[in-house]
Amino acid sequence: MTLGGVMLMLLPVGCLLSGGSWAATLGGLGDTILGPNTFLGAANFSTFLLDRSTGMLFLGARDAILAVDTNKLNERPRKIVWDVPEDKRRSCVGKGKTEVDCNNYIRLLEFLGDGRIYVCGTYAFDPQCVFLEVSSFTLEKAEDGGVKMETGKGKCPFEPSQHYTAVMAGGTLYTAATSNFLGTLFDISRATGSEQERIRTERSINWLSDPEFVSSAFIEETADNNPTGDDDKIYFFFTEVAKEYDLYTKVKVPRVARVCKSDVGGMKTLQRRWTTFLKAQLVCEDKPSGQRYNILTDVFTMQHTPGDPSSTHFYGLFTSQWEREELSAVCVFSLSDISKVLDGPFKELKKTCETWINPEPVPTPRPGQCLNNALKAEGFESSLKLPDKVLTFVRDHPLMENSVTAAPVLVRKGVRYTKLAVTLTEERRGAVLHLGTDRGELHWVAVVGQNATLLQEIPLFTSQEPVNNILLHQGRALVGSPLSLARVQTKGCSLYPSCEVCARARGLDCEWSAEEKACRPAKAEPGPGDMVDDALRKCHAEEGRCAPSIRELRVSLGLRLLLPCVQLSPRPCSWEHPPDRHTRQHHSDLEVTVTKDSLGKYVCTCQVHGQKTHCFLSFTRKNRL
Ligand SMILES: *[C@@H]1O[C@H](CO)[C@@H](O)[C@H](O)[C@H]1NC(C)=O
Ligand SMILES: *[C@@H]1O[C@H](CO)[C@@H](O)[C@H](O)[C@H]1NC(C)=O
Repeated sequence: MTLGGVMLMLLPVGCLLSGGSWAATLGGLGDTILGPNTFLGAANFSTFLLDRSTGMLFLGARDAILAVDTNKLNERPRKIVWDVPEDKRRSCVGKGKTEVDCNNYIRLLEFLGDGRIYVCGTYAFDPQCVFLEVSSFTLEKAEDGGVKMETGKGKCPFEPSQHYTAVMAGGTLYTAATSNFLGTLFDISRATGSEQERIRTERSINWLSDPEFVSSAFIEETADNNPTGDDDKIYFFFTEVAKEYDLYTKVKVPRVARVCKSDVGGMKTLQRRWTTFLKAQLVCEDKPSGQRYNILTDVFTMQHTPGDPSSTHFYGLFTSQWEREELSAVCVFSLSDISKVLDGPFKELKKTCETWINPEPVPTPRPGQCLNNALKAEGFESSLKLPDKVLTFVRDHPLMENSVTAAPVLVRKGVRYTKLAVTLTEERRGAVLHLGTDRGELHWVAVVGQNATLLQEIPLFTSQEPVNNILLHQGRALVGSPLSLARVQTKGCSLYPSCEVCARARGLDCEWSAEEKACRPAKAEPGPGDMVDDALRKCHAEEGRCAPSIRELRVSLGLRLLLPCVQLSPRPCSWEHPPDRHTRQHHSDLEVTVTKDSLGKYVCTCQVHGQKTHCFLSFTRKNRL
């Protein structure tokens, strides 16, 4: 007697009836999973780098770099060991660091564009970088025959688990990392290229205040559609401690910051510092409930129209500082909204009586602006030529007055998402969010307009393995944890194995074919209104629909059940059930231990888009035990 994935629109109710334990009800789809035994003893994978032309995936691990052919996952991965000499390890431990942390954790892998990969590791709290020749899969040698190394300071964090992000822009590396042994200094910098152009952020709490770096993106202008000659830009996403509020508690705020690619710093003021560093607050808030999600966990960057950089959207994964329970939200920010805020008023951080009443006047050319044709025509062909008053202004006003705001497209309680990737459907009417959890699962959520629908929950790894990488490639997702790697199909209606799941993908133009017993692309576009509900109604009752009719479950005394009621909107769900001491609500799910008194009707009610959705379940007693 099982009741696999009983689903209703936003409200899956499923039960696994096995001796008091329970787990997600939906299984994988014959995808390939490489477990810890595959990787020749390597572990602590943190970095992914995919060669999209060959399908070769490079993995940064502890003391090793691996190469996996994603087209031939059954082949043994290749491995290069790059570890720390014993004396160096001992001196690291001598400085008070743990044995485990005094290894070389590879945190950076980037193509250099000349057949080599730039590899940086923590190297026992003394970051170092090496060059990997792809064709021979070997590390470049120095003249003395040893591995050719150069300092990794500012390119790679000192500590293995430190928040960090890096992005390659036209062959030059831009990073956001800690830059000292103690982990107390933070920089966003141009980390490679000529020495004079290696510039960074000013070390001021107005610029960066205990940041946790999350993600970065290089947005390049298209050569044939850039009439103003605007510069290319690099965006950084992070959470930091707000300095603009004078509060006793440390309030964290998610931020986006922008620097321009041609910036080489100022001549006197802001020498070897960004003259274009501007940042703004991101607000991911459900207005009706007032719930704010203020901690950024991951960002996925995607062009909604391929080839058009102005169509870039950033999908941000958030959680909240204040909630004790697990909570995840997704908010989408457009590049144009961010640009508007960065072109808007500056926040006055030095609040004196004078500036309170009359904010400092904004000098010209506009501080923080990227170089373009108009500026060059005025004689500002380099940031070195910018006037002092512009530079002192940008130094003192890195933060914008306005925030970039968005409402969550997805909110889930009881789940901690760690990673996010997004695919758009062919007609770009809807998107599928591929969400990794801290317990080794992959969840799929369809988003059409502002409507989110849970499609599948696929357990990939053990619950001790958080998903730390998701990479999309050729209709597949490559999903990683510190110990394992999985390849999962992501494209097409045929992925949805039942009428139920297929119905919930109705917004993505999928339709259940009763003859074929398979989910197929729909011939006609769905009409307006309640399309998911219509599609669900068509599914046969015996396939396990729980509404509108009551689903009856025959149970034995003593059995423990978990009745999940998936909450995707910020409004909480509530359960009605027979008066019974043996139920406990975990987030929106209900745990029931079956007793004589627990027989009866169970109703979960959630508010979705102003309507109420119900899910019913009724218990009748099976045989006497
Ligand atoms: C590396 O992996 C080991 C074993 O799984 C674990 O104990 C350790 O915490 C990991 N280190 C980091 C920095 O992730
Ligand atoms: C979202 O869901 C509501 C309620 O089910 C429905 O009326 C609306 O048409 C849906 N919107 C989209 C874009 O699918």
